[in-house]
Amino acid sequence: MKPTQKPANPNFSSGPCSKRPGYDVSTLDLTTLGRSHRAAIGKTALQRVCEETAQVLGLPEGYRVGVVPASDTGAVEMALWSMLGPRPVDVFSWESFGQGWLTDIVKQLRLEQVNDYGADYGKLPELNLADPAHDIVFTWNGTTSGVKVPNADWISDTREGLTICDATSAVFAMEMPWEKLDVVTFSWQKVLGGEGAHGMLILSPRAVERLETYTPPWPLPKIFRMTKGGKLIEDIFKGATINTPSMLCVADYLDSLNWVKSIGGVQATVRRSSDNLSVIEQFVATHDWIHFLAEDPANRSSTSICLTLSLEADQVKQLVKLLDAEGVAYDIGAYRDAPAGLRIWGGATVEKTDIEALMPWIEWGYREVSR
Ligand SMILES: Cc1ncc(COP(=O)(O)O)c(C=O)c1O
Repeated sequence: MKPTQKPANPNFSSGPCSKRPGYDVSTLDLTTLGRSHRAAIGKTALQRVCEETAQVLGLPEGYRVGVVPASDTGAVEMALWSMLGPRPVDVFSWESFGQGWLTDIVKQLRLEQVNDYGADYGKLPELNLADPAHDIVFTWNGTTSGVKVPNADWISDTREGLTICDATSAVFAMEMPWEKLDVVTFSWQKVLGGEGAHGMLILSPRAVERLETYTPPWPLPKIFRMTKGGKLIEDIFKGATINTPSMLCVADYLDSLNWVKSIGGVQATVRRSSDNLSVIEQFVATHDWIHFLAEDPANRSSTSICLTLSLEADQVKQLVKLLDAEGVAYDIGAYRDAPAGLRIWGGATVEKTDIEALMPWIEWGYREVSR
């Protein structure tokens, strides 16, 4: 039977992700628009971005937060190009984005002492191979496979190397053990449903120390440069961005941070995401034709929830099209390099009631395309 109730909001894309419940663009504080981002009004807004992010996330003392160009990719690349080189690097990758970082490290930076610890879609590599004397590069949540690291117990508290963590689909949706992480990156358009283009770069004091004591042998473009005369450009981490940001996106991000605060902080956003995963877990547990791509339940992502179906790849495409045409789910096809299946965003801006409403439609669509 065709379900009668549709999700109130059919946006389940894994990025840009759904706007928060109650979002209304007309309520944004737009007093910064048309002004210089270096004028007091713009600088104050950007400084609030840095300070409020640190406060809402509960970052340890001494951690810096900066707004950088080119979204999450820009933030990761800045870190890789500025910090890697002095130590061997252990790269853990298990899906497309992590593989992209490995490619950069090996083929662009051409580092020679690189350990490639990779795993296929659905699995995690052997994290315990991480060497505390090496730098470690990994993705907290593999957005294209729906596999996350279960924790950071495999990272040494007494490590000498740095941990560089692409956490763009994890921050605000998963518990982050900040003390284990020296560089963390994310963007505004994922868990908070903000706008694209800007990257967030979080640095531990040890990451800053690396920047101030190591100069890479390759040239660094201006948009990657975080030091001057061997010292961190602290102003970048106080709102004086390297180049011009969109103040409209800044206003939108500050609005999303206000929303996080209004619902009870990061604990609440983490809970919203794990509740969304629970709905899908219950559905999968009671339907034998749908499966998590993540093999181990402990590694299941609560944001990019990746599922395989007992269907041919073409039938999965038909199902995705059908649900789109019905207006019940947009953008839920698996990532282009990942195994055929569904990817449903369960980040904090998605309402549990909408995930609940979606499940019967997936069942209906499955029956339709299996006929
Ligand atoms: C894990 C991961 N890394 C990097 C990116 C690239 O992010 P951006 O488009 O913000 O640069 C994405 C985008 O989905 C991602 O999921």
